[in-house]
This record gives sequence, structure tokens and C-alpha cells, in this order.
Amino acid sequence: MRFEHQVMAEIAEHGPMRFSQFVEAALYDADFGFYTTSGRAGGRQGDFVTSAEVGPLFAAVVADWLDGVWRSFGEPDVFRVCEVGAGVGTLFRGINRASPACFSALNYTLVERSASMQVAHQSLPSEAWKSGTAFPEQRQHVVMANELLDNLSFDIAERVTNGWALVHVGVVGEKLRLQVGPADLELNYLSGLAPDADCGTRVPVALQACEWVEHVRANADRVLAFDYAASTAELARRDQAGWLRTYFGHQRASNPLVDPGQRDITHDVPIDQLPPADEQHLQADWLNLHGLPERVEAARQTWTERAHIGDLQAMAARSAIGEAKALTDPTGLGAFLVLEWRGV
Ligand SMILES: C[S@@+](CC[C@H](N)C(=O)[O-])C[C@H]1O[C@@H](n2cnc3c(N)ncnc32)[C@H](O)[C@@H]1O
Repeated sequence: MRFEHQVMAEIAEHGPMRFSQFVEAALYDADFGFYTTSGRAGGRQGDFVTSAEVGPLFAAVVADWLDGVWRSFGEPDVFRVCEVGAGVGTLFRGINRASPACFSALNYTLVERSASMQVAHQSLPSEAWKSGTAFPEQRQHVVMANELLDNLSFDIAERVTNGWALVHVGVVGEKLRLQVGPADLELNYLSGLAPDADCGTRVPVALQACEWVEHVRANADRVLAFDYAASTAELARRDQAGWLRTYFGHQRASNPLVDPGQRDITHDVPIDQLPPADEQHLQADWLNLHGLPERVEAARQTWTERAHIGDLQAMAARSAIGEAKALTDPTGLGAFLVLEWRGV
């Protein structure tokens, strides 16, 4: 409640705020932001489960991909990999556990904005990692991000009779409310992306995600991002409730203005608003291209041989088979997009 009052006081002083400003505060406010205080990925204790949190299989495939990139660069002695939005470091733990050939050269930086999650990095294994809040100064061979782009602050635009207008957060009768501003010429490019949108249709405007891709592409040789994403036209067809997501305690909640700071606010990333990717796959296809079927086959064999023993190896094998299903589920994680950009 205190945070809601803080937001209302700010609106009373400065007028309605851009939706991106509201999201920024709701997720990352120093005292009340969802990610600053409690929000985190994870199983029973988390608010949502990411591919990295499903189990170690995802990281094992990413580790194989890293090996491929390392080899394609001629096996450099120092292989700089940066993961942005690293959360509590689960992907790195899995890569360490998979022990890829490149591990001896690995110089891995976890960039995480939330101090409460960064604390968890202190217990990460090996000495191959560093942890920080800012992107490293040195050029990286690889930058990776799992479910970061959807968590960067975004605006909402609404189709109005004379173009597109930004949606702001205002106060009506002591309650936070979305309000549509005047048409804004700078948003006219949206008509090219969603030409069939009727008046009243809303789409996300992903300026921060676009800037992020531009920045890392200029500072790395490869960029790999996993996220839920679709074209702006597809998101326009779904309208706001179909692409604006809020999560709390694994439940998909609805109104983003309710209990700010208590829930995650995210969106399906409008991919055609980002610099065009050099490669784009569904997550299921990407995992299949990079060794998932071989790993699942090996797990099946182990399970067949050891199920009657019921030891740790047998349990890990059984778990990997279940993880593969979840990671490639066409109605869930398998439908995420994997976007790869080559550095510029
Ligand atoms: C949905 S979580 C994903 C966490 C992790 N990658 C995973 O897959 O489990 C998004 C994370 O990105 C972090 N984040 C958001 N903006 C960031 C930024 N500009 N720099 C670094 N981390 C950021 C958030 O604090 C949050 O931990």
C-alpha cells in the first residue's frame, strides 16, 4: 500500500506517468520493487519457472552451444561470456555442472540488477565467474540472456483514430488507472508493424529491449536471447490481456496496476521492434539442433539400465526425460523464441 501511495503522490505532483516509468518503479524501485524485494525465478519458492530453473538439462545444451562457439573462435585461452539478467545464477551452476570443454578458458560474468538475487551468486561454484550490476567494459565473445528482454521496461501504445497514442498511468477516484494520451507522431511506425489494428487495440512498445540489443551487439561477437515473443501484428490481434503478463506465486495475475511491487509485470516481446536477428528458432527446435535428442537418448538408456537400482544416476536420467518434455512443450517453453545476433 505504501508504494501505491508513493506512485499516486508522484502522479499528483507530475501528472500521469508513462507506463514504462510505472513498470520500472514496480519492478526495480530501490525500496519496493518486485525484483528488489522478493521476486525471483524458481521452483516452489519462486514466482515463475524459467527454462534454467526446470533442471540442469537446459544449461547442459547451452554449454554444448558455448563449446561450439568457442571452437569456432579457435579455442581462445580466455573465453568471455556474459549473462545479463542472471537471476540467482542457476544457468551458470548448470554450465559448471555440465563441464564443457571451454570451461578451462571460461571468464563468465553474471550481470544482475537485483541486489537480493546477486547475493545468491556468492555461493556459486568454481572461480570462473564474476558478478556485477553493469555490463563489463571489455568486449565479450558471447552475451546470453534468458527471459531478460520481457522484463525490461516497456510502454503501451493504443491505436486511436488519428494514429497511435501512449497509455499512461493516472489516478481516478483514488485508484490507479490506465489513461490514453494524445496521438504521437513518433509512434506512426506501429501502423507499418500492425496495419490491421482497429481503434482501441493495444501493443507493447519495447524501446528498452531494442536499445539493449543494440548495445550488446556493439560489444559482443554473439548475442543469444531466449524469451516469449511474437510479431507486433500478432500481439495486436491478441490485444493487451493476451501479451501483458503479471505473475505472482506461479499464478498468472491480471491487472498490472494492482499491488505494484508485489507482482512481476512482463510482456511478450515484439520481435519486429528489435534489430532483426541473424538467426531465429523456436526454443524446441533450437534445443533439438544443439544436442537435446542425444542427451535424452542417453538418459533413456541410463534409466533402462538403472531404474531397478534407483540410484542418483537413475533419478537424474528420469528427471532429464521430464525436463526435455517441459523445455520443448509447444504450448509452453518450447514455443519461446531463441534469437541470435552476430556482433557489429
Ligand atoms: C525473469 S528473470 C530471469 C532470471 C534468469 N535469467 C532465469 O532464467 O532464471 C529476469 C531477471 O533480469 C534482471 N534484470 C532486469 N533488467 C536488468 C538489467 N538491465 N541488467 C541486469 N539484470 C536485469 C531481473 O532483476 C531478473 O532477475
